Amino acid sequence: MTWSAADVPDLSGRTALVTGASGGIGRETARVLAARGAHVVLACRSTRRARAVAAWVGGSTEVVELDLASLDSVREAAARVRDRHGRLDLLVNNAGVMFPSYGRTTDGFEAHFGVNHLGHFALTGLLLGLMTGVPGSRVVTVGSLAHRAGLGGVVADRARSGSGRRSVTAYGRSKLANLLFARELQRRLGAAGAATVSLAAHPGLSPTGLWHGDAPAVLRPVVAAGMRWLAQPPQAAALPSLRAATDPRVPPGAYLGPARRFGSRGAPVPARSSRGARDVTAQARLWELSEELTGVGYAFGPAPVPAEPAVGVCPVTGARG
Ligand SMILES: NC(=O)c1ccc[n+]([C@@H]2O[C@H](COP(=O)([O-])OP(=O)(O)OC[C@H]3O[C@@H](n4cnc5c(N)ncnc54)[C@H](OP(=O)(O)O)[C@@H]3O)[C@@H](O)[C@H]2O)c1
Repeated sequence: MTWSAADVPDLSGRTALVTGASGGIGRETARVLAARGAHVVLACRSTRRARAVAAWVGGSTEVVELDLASLDSVREAAARVRDRHGRLDLLVNNAGVMFPSYGRTTDGFEAHFGVNHLGHFALTGLLLGLMTGVPGSRVVTVGSLAHRAGLGGVVADRARSGSGRRSVTAYGRSKLANLLFARELQRRLGAAGAATVSLAAHPGLSPTGLWHGDAPAVLRPVVAAGMRWLAQPPQAAALPSLRAATDPRVPPGAYLGPARRFGSRGAPVPARSSRGARDVTAQARLWELSEELTGVGYAFGPAPVPAEPAVGVCPVTGARG
């Protein structure tokens, strides 16, 4: 049976934090979580936009200022959340940029990698202490079909490159990093016996603010045509994140995305990821690099590397993600 927002269970008494809830898919994710009774922390770069969303969402919400392009801001936001909350049930690492107007973050990292991956790596590490003792708690990291464009993988040399601003591969590598991170986090959480699980989701294709970036001219007609044919509205694009965050039948480490048109639209189901995203050595390497670059360490150490990736296999369909 097709999974929909109506399948999100009652979330009364749960606290969820959604990054980038000021628009697009994050706003929809926050809306549904709040409608199902969760208290939702809208962690956003613009508190003005976030407050407008809070009024629109209704339910129980609060706004926390978070600029993922600044590790100082990430630390301040995490400290504020820790001060206000004794526990966190759901963390949705949703915010993202594509072809932004700036090339590097405040800390000098390539903008896609810095915002989409490093900011979330740091935030998760700083908030995980609120989650690991909470039964049913989940970290959901939002990837993209574009992780397949992350050619050359994630390597240290490119972390501070200034040439990625309009680069499809730079965006792709940041989304590859999202998947590598989600899986390494799951392995480490599992090995530590934590109550929290890590999953990943991708929304397919949706006409959101993400596409308002400074795309290379050659890409614009392709995108316009693709949008007409392949895209789905943010309400549908938020479903993979919502399912990963709330469906008890989805196993730890799973990767969900839309079912139809090459994964661009449709109901949320187990998704396939590239071989590179399943590379456990790359997962472990990225983790070490991210700890080094952000200065954020996690409370638990490396997990044993399995012979076969132990994540992303749906027990129902057998699909590998
Ligand atoms: N739309 C698609 O077709 C598509 C496809 C694949 C994957 N995705 C992924 O889906 C996620 C959500 O994107 P979207 O489509 O909903 O795009 P969107 O409408 O542009 O929303 C992105 C959100 O991220 C926030 N953000 C950007 N930079 C930030 C920063 N430095 N610190 C904190 N928040 C920041 C934005 O805040 P502001 O309001 O302040 O800009 C906005 O709330 C992203 O991870 C994206 O990579 C989207």
